[in-house]
Amino acid sequence: MPPAAAPDSDTGSPLPQATFRFRCIGCGTVAHSAAQDFRCSHCGNLLEISDQAWKSGSLDATTLKSVWRDRRSSNAPLDCSGVWRFRELLPTPASLEHVVTLREGNTPLYELPLASRATGIPRLSAKHQGLNPTGSFKDTGMTVAATFARQAAYRWVACASTGNTSASMAAYAARGGMRSLVLVPDGKISWSKLSQALDYGALTCQLRTDFDGCLHLLQELVRRAPVYQLNSINPFRLEGQKTLAFELLEQMEWQPPDHIIVPGGNLGNSSAIGKALLEMRDLGLIPRMPKLWVIQAEGANALVRTLRETGGKRLVSVQAETRATAIRIGNPASWEKAVKVLQATGGACEQVSEVEIALAKAEIGAEGIGCEPASAVTLAGLKKLLLQGFVKREESVVLILTGNLLKDPDFTMDFHRGSLFQGAAHESENTQLKPFRHPPVVLEATLDAVIQALDHAEKSDRTHSNA
Ligand code: F0G
Repeated sequence: MPPAAAPDSDTGSPLPQATFRFRCIGCGTVAHSAAQDFRCSHCGNLLEISDQAWKSGSLDATTLKSVWRDRRSSNAPLDCSGVWRFRELLPTPASLEHVVTLREGNTPLYELPLASRATGIPRLSAKHQGLNPTGSFKDTGMTVAATFARQAAYRWVACASTGNTSASMAAYAARGGMRSLVLVPDGKISWSKLSQALDYGALTCQLRTDFDGCLHLLQELVRRAPVYQLNSINPFRLEGQKTLAFELLEQMEWQPPDHIIVPGGNLGNSSAIGKALLEMRDLGLIPRMPKLWVIQAEGANALVRTLRETGGKRLVSVQAETRATAIRIGNPASWEKAVKVLQATGGACEQVSEVEIALAKAEIGAEGIGCEPASAVTLAGLKKLLLQGFVKREESVVLILTGNLLKDPDFTMDFHRGSLFQGAAHESENTQLKPFRHPPVVLEATLDAVIQALDHAEKSDRTHSNA
């Protein structure tokens, strides 16, 4: 049955409203409601949201593109959100008054001239999700999931996190008048992320375990206490994160790049981007599919191993270790969703070393953009894909930068001071990283001292450019 046309509250234009169901990604069971743990009541696998409206053919690509474009010049709060601007392809809350928004999304797509020159790929750009309100891509999903938490009148929302989810959740909970509970691994997340959660008023528990241990505990907790889970297991999160891809394609005049490269941790984001690409293809919004690539840190490479060792049939968990703490995850919850979308787009998963991550992060910093370490795996991964022949120089590539440079100042300071890697094994790598290091210099407060420092910097620039 085609869905009823509902007037669009802000523009007045009649548009079909997306109705939605939950569908199990394992056995395909469809349900109108979901249990607290967002798992299928039959087989225990994860749920996704399946939109009915556009499947019935009631949404037309040309109309959608023009409605979304028009909203960019509207000042209505919902239209100012780079997520809710695409609301025809999102689950619709019962009342738009429930929407919790911080004007998320609307992030820039930057060219990367230095990296373009270094890799020989002229059409290389980066979509910077770190320029969201709380500094990471999590905000685009959080606005949708927090909205549904508020609609369901939850007092408490909760998440396990490597830092960014907790910062984002705490902010959206505060905006939506809800309390938030954060479970983070003690000593293993960056202080700046932790401090965000504190400022936004979260009850923050630093647990003596890793991220996977925190998530496991949260799964138990939601079965026992009336708290609403806001991890990316919550399919509303992924619906919001889909808009990254809608917005990207709109910025590219609906001409898909050949490749989209994204970091992989718990694998919610890659799953969301893949879902969006498939929906856009089915709706006729894009003429062809980009390949989606997930990049992991070598020390947290569960998806790499899962694909290589089992062909994507069985999860190979790992004991995760990496300085890119955002993706220090060994047992990714959304691995099956990610495997499906990678297979559907023809992409795959690659891994990069700690030194490769640090170098790529410095290179992105040198572009005047910057990002947190987990985001830099994208550029490091691109270099590998290029060497392996999976990416060709004449193709177009978009890197998804997931977190802001300011998210992990310890990593950045250690890098510039030369203390990120220790021991003889890293001597040669340190030579590679040296040109990107700009440690602070402590000087007497005299003109001579500053002029000497300038001279020294000038000489060292010349040495590096002749090298
Ligand atoms: N990049 C950053 C900056 C992240 O914070 C995360 C995940 C990822 C990439 C990986 O995304 O999990 O969807 O595959 N951070 C989560 C958190 C786990 O708790 O903040 P994913």
